[in-house]
Amino acid sequence: MRHLMNPLDFTVEELDSLFDLANDIEHNMPRYAHACAGKKLATCFYEPSTRTRLSFEAAMLNLGGSVLGFADADSSSAAKGESVADTIRIISCYADICAMRHPKEGAPLVAAEKSRIPVINAGDGGHQHPTQTLTDMLTIRTLKGRLDHLTIGLCGDLKFGRTVHSLINALSRYEGMRFIFISPDELRIPDYITEMLKEKGIPYEEVIRLEDKMPQLDILYMTRVQKERFFNEEDYIRLKDFYILDKKKMKLAPADMLVLHPLPRVNEISVDVDDDPRAVYFQQAQYGVYVRMALILTLLNIHVG
Ligand code: NCD
Repeated sequence: MRHLMNPLDFTVEELDSLFDLANDIEHNMPRYAHACAGKKLATCFYEPSTRTRLSFEAAMLNLGGSVLGFADADSSSAAKGESVADTIRIISCYADICAMRHPKEGAPLVAAEKSRIPVINAGDGGHQHPTQTLTDMLTIRTLKGRLDHLTIGLCGDLKFGRTVHSLINALSRYEGMRFIFISPDELRIPDYITEMLKEKGIPYEEVIRLEDKMPQLDILYMTRVQKERFFNEEDYIRLKDFYILDKKKMKLAPADMLVLHPLPRVNEISVDVDDDPRAVYFQQAQYGVYVRMALILTLLNIHVG
């Protein structure tokens, strides 16, 4: 039995097969409509979510399966003091696969160790968010045609943004990558990530101004300032509108640069950018459904002939 805790749990070859499957699903949806008939997905969400939870549920429903779960810790027995380890033992009696989001880093891993069904980490604190990373990678691979030889600018809250940490981790295995980290000083990328890049000899830069780097980018990955992980409100208010990508700044970008965002967006991308063909963040959310369908099939070991 296999779980997904970290994007590195899959080899590059396994990821390629997963993305091929996701692309096949994209073009042949009806063929997959009953692939998970009789199977159940549990979504255990101890932290707010719109996209991740609903895209998991949509993915399972598209596959002909059913879904059950809870969307907030207060409505589960966690409010009575039940441990994640006990909860997953129970969920293992009710469902065939589980997606879990938790504010504590490592909680889905604790669950996986006690589980009798595959567990997918749907975001653990500021740590990892592997299915968002799979979504981001499928979007880049499909729309850019490759996952190597890319200059990627990551902009915003690089300190607390788990999607950023997961994505860099995953992309660091591909050839010819170059990272540009764009953030205010207070929200810099953690040292453990720059250490990893140095060790692997992957070039990166850290800058504050977005405008200067725009012309060099193949991908611009915008992120929201992670309000819920701040220790005080004042710092959040000071930093929340540090970057606002607008039409004027988009003029500095190459014609084929793609703008990604894991969403939800707050103010960091002005709505007037939405109509720009380079803005692919809503398409990205659609790819999130295809890749989660592919992931559910893979972890349940279901093959559609
Ligand atoms: C992200 C998350 O939860 O980390 N959202 C998502 O799953 N698409 C990004 C965010 O909340 O900023």
